[in-house]
Amino acid sequence: MSLNTSAKSTLSKNTKKLMVKVDDELKNILSNSKTVKQGCLDTLSSGGKKVRPALTIICGHHQNEQQLIPAAASLELLHSASLIHDDVLDYSKTRRGKPTVYAKYGYDYALKTGDFIFSSAFLTLSRCNNPKLNRILAASAFKLSLGEILQRNTAYNARQNIDLYYKKIAFKTASLFRAACLIGAYCADLGEAEVEALGDYGHNLGLAFQVFDDILDFIGDERTMGKAVASDIRDGMMTLPIFLALDELSEKSVLVNAVQNRDNSDEEILEAVVLVKQTKAIKKSRSQAKDYIGKAIASLNILKTGNIKDELTRLANLVIERNM
Ligand code: IPE
Ligand code: IPE
Ligand code: MG
Ligand code: MG
Repeated sequence: MSLNTSAKSTLSKNTKKLMVKVDDELKNILSNSKTVKQGCLDTLSSGGKKVRPALTIICGHHQNEQQLIPAAASLELLHSASLIHDDVLDYSKTRRGKPTVYAKYGYDYALKTGDFIFSSAFLTLSRCNNPKLNRILAASAFKLSLGEILQRNTAYNARQNIDLYYKKIAFKTASLFRAACLIGAYCADLGEAEVEALGDYGHNLGLAFQVFDDILDFIGDERTMGKAVASDIRDGMMTLPIFLALDELSEKSVLVNAVQNRDNSDEEILEAVVLVKQTKAIKKSRSQAKDYIGKAIASLNILKTGNIKDELTRLANLVIERNM
């Protein structure tokens, strides 16, 4: 099931209507930037699932459009900037089914385009005239960067503690999901308890989302995903399936070497991927992602029964059923 197609039925009419406005907002922001090489904006114009802005819209209860639209757009801008930079760090050639900015235009353009879009996120959000929102986005960008740095520091090291993995995914992914929900909740002027509950929802959803992304790196289809698969081992990344496979394997050397070796052949990568798939690692990782989704949905308990709660529940369940 693809998030894009099924999201059409997962998302409510109200959300879809506002997401069209978010898309227009993004197009506007980008068309104003004539100095940025048009091609460098391919990443943004070629779509993506837009999960984070959708979260802002839903947690914002579809109210206060004047703030909600730029707020939601700012989440997608920050996310897209982080992907452009992430593709440099991961040497990725394909993103959203197109060549990455890094692959097409080189390192320097990827660096500066990422910066440009990153700054656009804060400029756009500042139009809400609410410093609290900017503070939340800044704190999450800070954590996201720390997570990416931590990931670099621990690359090609198969003997690290699994706690580091949880810390990395909390920083690099869950922080922005949490921010997306908090920003929406503040736009709707919700009370503190509801804001906190939605923040917790976003945090756990983000953890599940990244665990599932790490699973898809093993079992996903490159064309559906629009990005390369089997790339985490190649990049020396210790993701949850690898930790769990290593736990289970008595003979660990093939997998350890694959993670630690910087110039694996395609055959060596394939061998390592097959090895991981032969263990229960994928099944166990799925079960952890499901647990996070359970926690996310449980945080919604304090919300009153109704459309918003239902929509957030549907979205959460979709995160662990997607194939892209
Ligand atoms: C990719 O995020 C980066 C991760 C946090 C795993 P998405 O899977 O939301 O990417 P797009 O926006 O749909 O391309
Ligand atoms: C998420 O990690 C990257 C960011 C949070 C920026 P990944 O490196 O796994 O994301 P993909 O797989 O490249 O989309
Ligand atoms: Mg990456
Ligand atoms: Mg990934």
